[in-house]
Amino acid sequence: MPRNSPLFSISNLVKTFSPGKGTTVSALSGVNMEIREGELLLIAGANGSGKTVLMLILAGLMDPDEGELLFRGQPLGGAIGELRRHLGLVFQDPDAQTVGETVAEDIAFGPKNLGLSKPAVMERVQNALEALGLEHKRDWPPRNLSGGEKRRLAVAGVLAMGCGTIIMDEPFANLDWPGVVQVLEIIRQLKNEGKTVILLTHELEKVLAFADRLIILDRGIIREDGKPADVLDRLKDSYGVRDPRRNYGAVEDCTWL
Ligand SMILES: Nc1ncnc2c1ncn2[C@@H]1O[C@H](COP(=O)(O)OP(=O)(O)OP(=O)(O)O)[C@@H](O)[C@H]1O
Ligand SMILES: [Mg+2]
Repeated sequence: MPRNSPLFSISNLVKTFSPGKGTTVSALSGVNMEIREGELLLIAGANGSGKTVLMLILAGLMDPDEGELLFRGQPLGGAIGELRRHLGLVFQDPDAQTVGETVAEDIAFGPKNLGLSKPAVMERVQNALEALGLEHKRDWPPRNLSGGEKRRLAVAGVLAMGCGTIIMDEPFANLDWPGVVQVLEIIRQLKNEGKTVILLTHELEKVLAFADRLIILDRGIIREDGKPADVLDRLKDSYGVRDPRRNYGAVEDCTWL
């Protein structure tokens, strides 16, 4: 698909939860946005602002109560197969996505499902292990990894799939400095390959320099959407997102690479 053509078009997305005792939570209240092929979009918001719910709906893993979601111009229901092949997800909870008995098998799962030959799968596994610094743990059961190693494994699995669009939910959580650098290098590489990258994070200081666009989500509402510097200029404290330029100077300096 040509760069800049609409990948996701979302209109009036509403999602409300009723966890019990008469309480309701508006996780998303009327979200409108278009995500374009090849852009690096950063969605920031405080805890509970609706980032993860938005990702689950985009991925077709949760149904909205109201609203329309188009993937490449088609309603999601009819395009779910294409979406599944196209989209790679790094979940906020890495335990939610481990499937293999060992780290290497876990990474191999996605490429195998794509029907790649055994040597091609092995090459992808090896490259992903190296990119995330997990070679020494290749035969370990994923459950025995540390929190940061599990995050590395989740990113390795998505990298090995070679998806056209990647959504990462809190990609830097639990990672040490070398881990953050490895993930940032991958994000930069994906961007250079023209892939669409959507990052849900409040750790703007680590990655904002690479973002084409910044969206601020606040209590289920998009408050700002635009070029990172413009959005930061309009930031309000009530959104619960800190302007990283306070410590890092300009947007271009907001990276740990
Ligand atoms: N399965 C669920 N049942 C009930 N409420 C939910 C459920 N999932 C999310 N919520 C609520 O929806 C709101 C948005 O949650 P979400 O997980 O999207 O926030 P988030 O922006 O990802 O936060 P964080 O930064 O902590 O990851 C929160 O108020 C949360 O309590
Ligand atoms: Mg979340």
